[in-house]
Amino acid sequence: MKLEIRDLKVSYGGIKALKGISLTVDEGSIVTLIGANGAGKSTTLRAVSGLTRVESGSITLDDKSLVGLPTKEIVRSGIVMVPEGRRVFPDMTVRENLLIGAYTRKDSGVEHDMKHVFDLFPRLSERTWQLAGTLSGGEQQMLAVGRALMTKPKLLMMDEPSLGLAPLVVRDIFEIIKRVNEDGITVLLIEQNANAALRVAGYGYVLETGAIVLEDTGASLMQNPRVQEAYLGKKKGPSAKVVSHKRKSDTPVELLAD
Ligand SMILES: Nc1ncnc2c1ncn2[C@@H]1O[C@H](COP(=O)(O)OP(=O)(O)O)[C@@H](O)[C@H]1O
Ligand SMILES: [Mg+2]
Repeated sequence: MKLEIRDLKVSYGGIKALKGISLTVDEGSIVTLIGANGAGKSTTLRAVSGLTRVESGSITLDDKSLVGLPTKEIVRSGIVMVPEGRRVFPDMTVRENLLIGAYTRKDSGVEHDMKHVFDLFPRLSERTWQLAGTLSGGEQQMLAVGRALMTKPKLLMMDEPSLGLAPLVVRDIFEIIKRVNEDGITVLLIEQNANAALRVAGYGYVLETGAIVLEDTGASLMQNPRVQEAYLGKKKGPSAKVVSHKRKSDTPVELLAD
């Protein structure tokens, strides 16, 4: 299982969100894409998931093109995304949210996999019948990951899992990402929290306004002065420019439906 993105361009009307980016996610790895708000991180994941139209370039999974395929088929080929802001169904129970992750599956292993998710997240297991909307932020993030795992993915893509979570909870989430990867699932991790992301990722890419400006092993990027200054808070000059933006939200349904 290898994901390859080559010269990917995406525009929203006149705005060039991705100006031709290339990246590779090898089987079994944890790869991170870091960048400031508005850099194009979510756009990259949305393009891979078939949620955003690709203007040009290629996205392939083991040499099979994903461009133009419906999201449902991309999920079926083994790629799942945990969207920014988690987006669990608040009025459904933990169990119901997990079952939604499995709804495209026709095999009989669903209960077995649910048990595996509950082993991975004992906090969710204790809250099987609790409404998802009443979970803490960290628990909702665990549920969003659990729901994604219920699709039986080969590649798990996570959009800023640490956003809005307390440092201790962020640590838990990143521990879980490591465990999921040790279970054999490849991970593409999008983060503004470069510190946490580069610590778990074997390889990383730095995205700035729609272009990849640096790539290297996670350990080397941590030592890179440019990364340290702009993303690790070791600033000398003025702070890195942060572009704020607003756009319509994803719904969980959009991510699962065709
Ligand atoms: N649906 C959209 N319509 C118009 N512009 C968008 C839309 N989604 C994102 N953008 C713009 O594309 C750029 C990249 O956004 P995004 O991929 O969400 O960045 P990131 O996830 O790195 O914060 C930003 O300039 C943003 O304003
Ligand atoms: Mg984003």
